[in-house]
Amino acid sequence: MSRIAYVNGQYVPHKDAAVHVEDRGYQFADGVYEVCEVWQGKVVDMPRHVDRLDRSLTELRIDWPMARPALEFVIREVVRRNRVRDGIVYIQVTRGVAKRDHYFPSGDVVPSIVVTARTADPRLAEKTADTGISVITYPENRWPRVDIKTVALLPNVLAKQAAKEQGCKEAWYFDADGFVTEGGSTNAWIVSKDGVLITRPAESGILRGITRAVVLDLVEREGISFEERPFSVDEAKEAREAFVTAASTLVMPVVRIDDSVVGNGHPGSVALRLRALFHTATDFMAV
Ligand code: PDD
Repeated sequence: MSRIAYVNGQYVPHKDAAVHVEDRGYQFADGVYEVCEVWQGKVVDMPRHVDRLDRSLTELRIDWPMARPALEFVIREVVRRNRVRDGIVYIQVTRGVAKRDHYFPSGDVVPSIVVTARTADPRLAEKTADTGISVITYPENRWPRVDIKTVALLPNVLAKQAAKEQGCKEAWYFDADGFVTEGGSTNAWIVSKDGVLITRPAESGILRGITRAVVLDLVEREGISFEERPFSVDEAKEAREAFVTAASTLVMPVVRIDDSVVGNGHPGSVALRLRALFHTATDFMAV
């Protein structure tokens, strides 16, 4: 079965899916996106993702491309038409197509919307989680509004490519004070030497991750010792455990930061426990 994408009102074969060359997403990165996990045929935490999409659109003054229930239907329909049981669904909204000009286009320009979905092998993810991933540290290179989930990801692309070229999966940004902000496409966590789970507050410097929010719910439910505060690169390197969270990776243990082995070099027990419990704290929407 060929893959299907939703583009501006139509379900089209993935190989033919296209937007106009003067789409503002293409020319100015003038758009926003969401990635939701699909797990056992269900879209995970869709309401929270759509809420965040709404916030990103509002912050950038981009109109909704369609009514919210219609968008939720399209998301489920793209997953269904692609027969994705486990994987991700991607939603992108841009300010639309207009003659290239930095100013916002006139009010009759409608936003562009694209929804795609793809399968990912959950066994591969489990295999990666069994061994953990390595990260590099990388100086913050992004604009301050990282709370908006915009498609302007060139800084993240450069950071993650640097990680890849050093045999790592992720780059952990650090700010001018040496504090870890987040990963290029994930939120960052450690378990301190004293066994306290720590993640940076979402007030500044990071995207308010949906996976992060689910993990915070779990932490409370399970009574895990926790502090929401910034942590430095040095503290992370001496931590007992580290991990990242995102809809695409869920809770993924980190076993090396630059040249420093984290803990005993194996995924930590807190990370593995949170990973195992993750779906007990999510909201599902069956496709
Ligand atoms: N990235 N921080 C950044 C910079 C991200 O891009 C992401 C998600 C996260 C985690 O957010 P969430 O838990 O809501 O997925 C944090 C997605 C998965 C991506 O760009 O592919």
